[in-house]
Parts: sequence; structure tokens; C-alpha cells
Amino acid sequence: MCAYRIAVMKGDGIGPEVVPVALSAVERAADVYGFSVEFRELAAGDSALAEVGQALPDETVEGIRSSDAALKGPVGETAKDVIVRLRQMFDLYANLRPAKVYPGVRPLVDGVDMLIVRENTEDLYKGYEFELPGAAVALKVVTERASRRIAEYAFREAERRRRHVTIVHKSNVMQKTDGLFSRVAREVASSHPGVSYREMYVDAAAMAIVRDPLSFDVLLTMNVYGDILSDEAAQVVGGLGMAPSANIGDSMALFEPVHGSAPDIAGRGLANPYATVLSASMMLDWLSRSKGDRRLAQASRLIESAVVEALRRGIATPDLGGKYKTWEVGKKLEAVIVELGGQRRSRSGPQAPPGGEVGPQEAGGGGPPEDQIPEGGAGQDKVEAGRGERGARQA
Ligand code: NAI
Ligand code: MG
Repeated sequence: MCAYRIAVMKGDGIGPEVVPVALSAVERAADVYGFSVEFRELAAGDSALAEVGQALPDETVEGIRSSDAALKGPVGETAKDVIVRLRQMFDLYANLRPAKVYPGVRPLVDGVDMLIVRENTEDLYKGYEFELPGAAVALKVVTERASRRIAEYAFREAERRRRHVTIVHKSNVMQKTDGLFSRVAREVASSHPGVSYREMYVDAAAMAIVRDPLSFDVLLTMNVYGDILSDEAAQVVGGLGMAPSANIGDSMALFEPVHGSAPDIAGRGLANPYATVLSASMMLDWLSRSKGDRRLAQASRLIESAVVEALRRGIATPDLGGKYKTWEVGKKLEAVIVELGGQRRSRSGPQAPPGGEVGPQEAGGGGPPEDQIPEGGAGQDKVEAGRGERGARQA
């Protein structure tokens, strides 16, 4: 049986604690749906720099290139040389950062379910920085092409959600760069009449995410603003330990938690692994579409449902008020995956032949249709609680 090849970078700090939890979750879900995965461990980050003199060794880049997808733990001070480089090298232009309230987590505001769609390849993170005598200069690069493709991505995502986009920029001050981004975003908006939108300056958006987070469905923004707002949004829904992300290009995608290497808690079993587990779930969903294999989408849903069920049972690390160590959460989550997987298999009766192809409408649509989302999908009520809220003010 052919195996899906996953490039794995455990990274630094809490990375080696949280990534194995995600890998075993994927393995258990793969067992349930009868496909196999091959994990290829690759070096990256501060530890790679110390060991082989490169934060992003050439073998790692080649290993990713020859894999079907990549899962990355956080790296430390070498983040710029690892993740920012990988995003540009593989043109992973769409950074998806869902911020959603899960049961058992104490959020600032209940029912929040928003998706930050962040341009991931340019802006100040292009890295064009220069030193002058007594000064330093960074170039903010914004192109029409990159702005258009991320705006298209955001509006397409909104069509699958609650059909509202908030375009976030600061064009009143950054008139040329953010001006270009907002103009292109408005043009794209006009070609998606079924999706309402509003515009917000980034400072006002930072306030609105705390004050009125239920008014957000999809938030479309630029690279630096998206980086900052996604940590803020994560805190609104319960903390960085619950914030997964995807970096998506046309032919490759890399998945990682939003958080960093958390050196303050590393090595003590305190790290919440769910952000990485949920990133792995997003990875299986993307792979399902890229490979046309429905089992992967089922496995993705199973993992998310198991996280919800585990949280309901109080299986959590101290950041969520739980009493379990990282690896204990991992073991218990595996058991929940096996348990829910068994229930699903017995409910669905004899299994369809493996490798059921994803139909064309699913393949293009991004994600399995609603009828494949497991029923009873633990916590769907909560996860979807924000769905009735439009907050759709046209701007
Ligand atoms: P951080 O995200 O590592 O930590 C911020 C706070 O959140 C800390 O108090 C930490 O203990 C807590 N936290 C983070 N993840 C957690 C988890 N899974 N469970 C429980 N608590 C968690 O941000 P910080 O401290 O600014 O950065 C630390 C290092 O991470 C830096 O060297 C930075 O460059 C790197 N970094 C790497 C990223 C990447 O690989 N994509 C992203 C962000 C930061
Ligand atoms: Mg960040």
C-alpha cells in the first residue's frame, strides 16, 4: 500500500513535546480509515543550526520537496531563517489561521469562529532590511499579483463559511502599499457579490477582535498585521495552545501551530499539544483534496472530533486549567480517536473500498461537504455557535 509522505520538523523548545502527539493522532486516525503515512523527520531550527551549522539544511528543503505535505513544530530564534524562508521558497502564499472556541476551553468571548487569511510571502517580512549610518531601513513590498491571489483565496473561503470578509489594512497611512492591497481586495470583493465585506484599519481591527469578535467570519489581511492579529485572536478563543495554522501554496503546504517554541515552559510537559494536533488535522484535510482521497478528510474530521471530545472529558494541560502532562494528553487522545473511530466504523457498516475518490465538486471546493462531517461530531454545536452571526456591514 502506498503511504503518504509527510515531512516532519519537530523544531525547538516545546516542539519535540507537541509534535509526537500530533503524529500519533495521525497514525491512529490512519489506522481507522485504512491508509498509511510515512513520517520523514527533518532537522530545522536552532537545534539544526547548532548541530549542522544551518537552521534550514539543504536536506530538509529536499525532504520537503519530495514529500506530500509538511508538519512543523515551532522553531526558536531562527524562525526567520526557517519558516519565513520556507514560505517564500515554496510560495506558500495563503496563511490560514482559524480562531475558534472549543468546548472545555475558557474563551474571552464564547462562540467565536473566525478565520484569518494572511498574505504570507511579502510585505515587510520579505526581509529587505538595510543598515545605514545611524539608521536602518526595511522595504515593504506589496504586489498586485500577491494581493489578488490572497484576496481570491479569502473570498472563496468565505463562500464556504458565513459569507463575510473583513479586509484589514492601514491605507490611510501606508497609502501606496496598503492602498494597493485594499484596492485589489475591493476589486476581488466586487467579483464575489454573494459575500459581504467591510474594511477596517488594523488598529481598529485589533480592538474589534477583543470587543466584538463574533462580528468576524473571514479576516483578510497583510503579512505583518496577520502575524500580530492571529496571536490576539488566539487569546480570545482560549490561548495559543489552541491555535493551528496552514501555509498553503499551489502544490505544497506546510502546517504548524501559531505559537513559538515557548522556552519558558519547554521540557516540563506543560505544553498544550492541541494546536499542533489541529494543524495535523488541517493537513489531512488539505491532503485529501490534493490527493483526491476521501479517507484523509474523514481522518481529519475524526481528529478534530476527538480533540473536542477529549476537551469535554477534561483531558487538557495546565494552560486550559487541566492537570495532564503533554504526553498524557497524547495517550488519552489516541484512545479517544480509537474509540470514536470504532463507533464511526460500526455506524457506517461495511467499509467502502479504500481510496474512495473525492468527487469533483469536493475536490475543487476545498474540504469535504457537510454530509461527511461526522455527525455527533462532538462539539459541532459549540464550534458552530458563531455561525448565525453575520455582522456583515458593507463598507
Ligand atoms: P511563544 O508563542 O513561544 O510563547 C508565548 C507565550 O505562550 C509563552 O508564555 C508560552 O509559554 C505560551 N505558549 C506558547 N505555546 C504554548 C503551548 N502550546 N502551550 C502552552 N503555552 C504556550 O512566543 P515567544 O515567547 O515570543 O517566542 C519564543 C520563540 O519562538 C522565539 O524564539 C520566536 O522566534 C519563536 N517563534 C517561532 C515561530 C515559528 O516557528 N513559526 C512562531 C513564533 C515564535
Ligand atoms: Mg507569529
